[in-house]
Amino acid sequence: MRKGAPPKSAREHVLAAEKRFVAAGLVFGHGTDNARDEAVFLVFDALSLPFNSNDTALDRALTGPENLAVSRLIDKRIESRKPAAYLTHHMRFAGHDFYVDERVLVPRSPIAELINSEFHPWLDVQTVKRVLEIGTGSGCIAIATALALPHATVDAIDISPDALIVAELNRTRFAQVSHRVRFIEADLFPTSNERYDLIVTNPPYVPSDECEQLPAEYLHEPRLALDAGADGLTLVRRIVAGAAKHLNAGGHLIIDVGEMAPVVDSEISTVNFTWVDLLHGGAGIGVAGRNDFM
Ligand SMILES: C[S@@+](CC[C@H](N)C(=O)[O-])C[C@H]1O[C@@H](n2cnc3c(N)ncnc32)[C@H](O)[C@@H]1O
Repeated sequence: MRKGAPPKSAREHVLAAEKRFVAAGLVFGHGTDNARDEAVFLVFDALSLPFNSNDTALDRALTGPENLAVSRLIDKRIESRKPAAYLTHHMRFAGHDFYVDERVLVPRSPIAELINSEFHPWLDVQTVKRVLEIGTGSGCIAIATALALPHATVDAIDISPDALIVAELNRTRFAQVSHRVRFIEADLFPTSNERYDLIVTNPPYVPSDECEQLPAEYLHEPRLALDAGADGLTLVRRIVAGAAKHLNAGGHLIIDVGEMAPVVDSEISTVNFTWVDLLHGGAGIGVAGRNDFM
């Protein structure tokens, strides 16, 4: 417990934590984008409050053990500089709660918005039968896609055996779709010539030298999930080169390349991406149909 009178309510904890986060120069970007929201996320977690609790939940006076639990979690966030999700071991993605730890990237891709809209207008939810996810990490995109597309089976690939352990934990957690999701250890694509109606991917796209400069929070994430070689396009180029032969006629590639979208457009001329207008923030989701590949 820090010196001085302990805060009495969750709201006081949130306000105090917000000030301390700003003073400590914490960086956000793993599910929240500001100190207030990060403080709310951690205080709610320490008190086991549902994420959608109404505002009055913040005004209840806390017990001694609750005060201590909240203070410890806030202190840990500041001292460790770990993303909050690595302290709480869960993160919401596309409306579902996934287990996460330092073996996987913290889920945050705006692909969630497309999943929530059942990939409208790009796909017809009734006709998508086979999906490939490349670089699955925690399995969040694969599992959320299976939940959104009831007729689809999803093959999800990662090169990291550690990440696949976490993905399997999440597959167990979402038992209702576990029979439609298969995790595979491979280098980007399946070794067979299987074809899919949708290939979806949030690959690494950070240039190696930028990885060195990332704020401390990002350095807790697996380097393999971020580092994409000298120009950040090593994985994207390989995915574009290999995608067409794994797509069915009428199939689509959906790729999250974040702020690299303009670079992808100028450097990769073998595909015509349409860049999605996202309603809920973020940028850099490209969509290409089978016919958009040269
Ligand atoms: C940016 S993370 C995305 C994780 C998850 N899909 C998400 O959106 O939260 C990229 C993932 O690609 C995996 N990866 C990196 N190189 C790979 C490769 N050559 N083949 C397959 N997966 C790879 C990493 O291990 C990591 O899990």
